[in-house]
Amino acid sequence: MAEDLKIIANATKAEQYESLIPQIEALLSGEPDTIANMGNVCAALKEQFGWFWVGFYLVKGEELVLGPFQGPVACTRIAKGKGVCGSAWQQEKTLVVPDVDAFPGHIACSSLSRSEVVVPVWKDQKVIGVLDVDSELLDQFDSTDAEYLEQIVKLIDFQEAL
Ligand code: SME
Repeated sequence: MAEDLKIIANATKAEQYESLIPQIEALLSGEPDTIANMGNVCAALKEQFGWFWVGFYLVKGEELVLGPFQGPVACTRIAKGKGVCGSAWQQEKTLVVPDVDAFPGHIACSSLSRSEVVVPVWKDQKVIGVLDVDSELLDQFDSTDAEYLEQIVKLIDFQEAL
């Protein structure tokens, strides 16, 4: 249950992910609704790491459209190839951006966001969305985040039609 989420402090990033992953698995188990599960994954990540913004964008036609998220209101539509999210979709790979101001075409949904990681979400060998995580601090994400966040999005069953 969500109210049982155990948050650990004074731990390495990897230890925090290792603590969180079984809890996310428990949260998702037995719940087939994809929207509900995306919502809880965002909430669990934000609660453990305290990031500024955590959320999904889903591919609809030639755009990404805002899905479940935690954090301040955000841009609702992002074209393919635009911003960090649209680039991760187009390039079909995780993008770690240590300084968003140095990323050409970065879309500033909030001027407070300073660094970002975007992980593609796959279904049937196609990218069907992205998980976007933003921090108010520079250089907050690295390959550890990329690997664990890729693992976490794979825990969600996207087979159910959205
Ligand atoms: N910064 C993202 C847009 C989404 S918001 O950060 C929530 C981008 O450049 O794609």
